[in-house]
Amino acid sequence: MTNFTDNAQTDGGQIDGDQIDGGQDVDPVPTPWRVLGRQLLANELIFDFGSWAYAWMTGNPIWHANSARLLESVPPGQESFQVLNLGAGPGNSALAMGKQHPEANLIAFDLAQQMLALAVERRAASGWPLARLTPVLGDALYLPFADASIDMVTGHSFLYLLPDYQGVLREACRVLRPGGQVAFLEPHIGPVDWAWLWQQASLPLLTSLSLWRVYSWFHRRFSAQRLQKALVHTGFHNVRTEVTLGGFGIFGRGQKR
Ligand SMILES: C[S@@+](CC[C@H](N)C(=O)[O-])C[C@H]1O[C@@H](n2cnc3c(N)ncnc32)[C@H](O)[C@@H]1O
Repeated sequence: MTNFTDNAQTDGGQIDGDQIDGGQDVDPVPTPWRVLGRQLLANELIFDFGSWAYAWMTGNPIWHANSARLLESVPPGQESFQVLNLGAGPGNSALAMGKQHPEANLIAFDLAQQMLALAVERRAASGWPLARLTPVLGDALYLPFADASIDMVTGHSFLYLLPDYQGVLREACRVLRPGGQVAFLEPHIGPVDWAWLWQQASLPLLTSLSLWRVYSWFHRRFSAQRLQKALVHTGFHNVRTEVTLGGFGIFGRGQKR
């Protein structure tokens, strides 16, 4: 069994950017294959047409449980709070978070219309009132929300797709209220435990994590150091990372001052 222990915690200012910016911890070299793959796999049409397949493979309990963990840093006893879920897709993580946190009102934000339509259908199937999940279409680089208007920003399988993920982190920080939190779950660059994945005996999970690995080869994977550095440099403090899903995924969390 692989030992996944590269969890880390830091506060703003304590990281030496040069020290953690080494080796493989940069974007993959944009070879012609990678560039072609990115263009084919990452535009909104793929996510529009692939929305049903995506919903099937990510609709499994392990994926859901990890998605719900995006809100685990919310202090108990909150009355109601606003969560902006970036790259919400068909609403998997939004629905998983909302089921565990009835006090959360979610904004499902995405640039693919078809994904949001699916999220709305699934909201209805879950019997949620409209206000619990509001779909908003747009580009996360230009969030249509006022400064300091959101309690928590989350994203699942999202930053790794973006050419300018630091720009999106800056937008997330802008719309968060002071003390608000961010939480992302992204593909991890480190070793993965295929035996663990096989033992889960779930075809949807096997499909989703295998494809995640392929997609992230084209786009980007995060080490703990890279995620930490991005969050700290955006201005977040209390930054933590945690490797999960048999090494396939990594959480990155932080708080706005
Ligand atoms: C891999 S899916 C993530 C799905 C989702 N988080 C879930 O819980 O199932 C990535 C999503 O990010 C969206 N996306 C990509 N670039 C975006 C951008 N710049 N702004 C908003 N959404 C974007 C895509 O349309 C897609 O639905």
